[in-house]
Amino acid sequence: MPDSKETIHIALIGCGGIAQTHLEAISLVPRVKLEKVQDVRLSAAQEAATKYHSTCTQNADEIFKDAKIDAVIICAPPVYHVELIKRALVAGKHVLCEKPFTTNLKDAEEIAKLSAQTDKLVMMASKFRFVKDVIEARKFVQSGVIGDIVLSEVIFCSLVNMESRWNSDLKTSGGGVLIDNGSHAVDVIRYLVGPIKSVYAQAGRKTQKISVEDTARLHFETDDHVIGMVDLSWSLYKHTANYVNIFGTLGTIEVGWQQSQIWDAKQKTSKVFGNGYKKLDAFVNQIEHFADCVQGKADPILGIEDAVESVRVIESAYTSVREKKWLRVRA
Ligand SMILES: NC(=O)c1ccc[n+]([C@@H]2O[C@H](COP(=O)([O-])OP(=O)(O)OC[C@H]3O[C@@H](n4cnc5c(N)ncnc54)[C@H](O)[C@@H]3O)[C@@H](O)[C@H]2O)c1
Repeated sequence: MPDSKETIHIALIGCGGIAQTHLEAISLVPRVKLEKVQDVRLSAAQEAATKYHSTCTQNADEIFKDAKIDAVIICAPPVYHVELIKRALVAGKHVLCEKPFTTNLKDAEEIAKLSAQTDKLVMMASKFRFVKDVIEARKFVQSGVIGDIVLSEVIFCSLVNMESRWNSDLKTSGGGVLIDNGSHAVDVIRYLVGPIKSVYAQAGRKTQKISVEDTARLHFETDDHVIGMVDLSWSLYKHTANYVNIFGTLGTIEVGWQQSQIWDAKQKTSKVFGNGYKKLDAFVNQIEHFADCVQGKADPILGIEDAVESVRVIESAYTSVREKKWLRVRA
């Protein structure tokens, strides 16, 4: 049910690293008012509340009980997402939840049911869908300007020491780099070249002293027979200018960190079409879109089925790592 209110009153749960970008983005969107922040570490909540002029609490109940709050943004580590989303929905709040949506498919499917029953919006945060260059790239793909899409690749590799972070604790994270950076990659592939039909995944040589994989490669095929590969790592830089390449019969689209371009195979010329990855802009676009959806002005470009599907693909990828074979994502 859309909210006709002019101002969306929002609360943020989990005031750690990524929350800082959400908070800054919220502060730039006048129709979204930050009402409350919560963290199990009170000091983190207090710091955020002071900086962004809201109230704070250590107890999530205070958010769920507060009738003034229309929506919550969940930025706690992955294992907590399912319970927080369910409690928010039952309390009548709309939800924007960070990736990975959940750590297993069963939880994601239960949330989808509850979202339908409560008639409240649940969106997975997926910043790349809100990056201008990625949106332009999708338009090029759909226009046919690079011909039939045949191959695609995504690269999310950078050196991050995870030895003392929750990311390397399987119970909290649900897995290593495959679920972490992989959730972004899978969603961006689905957005750009369509649903993923089958996967084959490998965990790479481990170089950090952690129990989860720190490097992984995911091979995929889409429903439309686009084949491709995703490289993911916390332990190396591939040092490439682009994080997405899409190859068609008439050209190539390169989505880059600093700029993006389209290459015309007939003319053998490139044209720059974007100025790269602008993180804060993407988060502002994301919160604007979330507000539009809450107010009934737009349908989510990332529906609950997209969130569930991203979990389904990652879960299949982990099964593939264990069984060392190609797997169909859906029966
Ligand atoms: N979109 C992105 O680019 C991006 C980047 C980094 C992280 N993330 C995702 O955001 C989420 C948070 O990651 P992070 O890097 O900010 O982690 P973080 O460790 O920096 O912050 C997490 C915060 O949540 C708090 N917390 C822990 N358990 C909680 C609970 N049950 N209730 C409330 N607060 C709780 C912690 O005290 C901490 O302050 C994860 O799901 C992660 O995958 C997304």
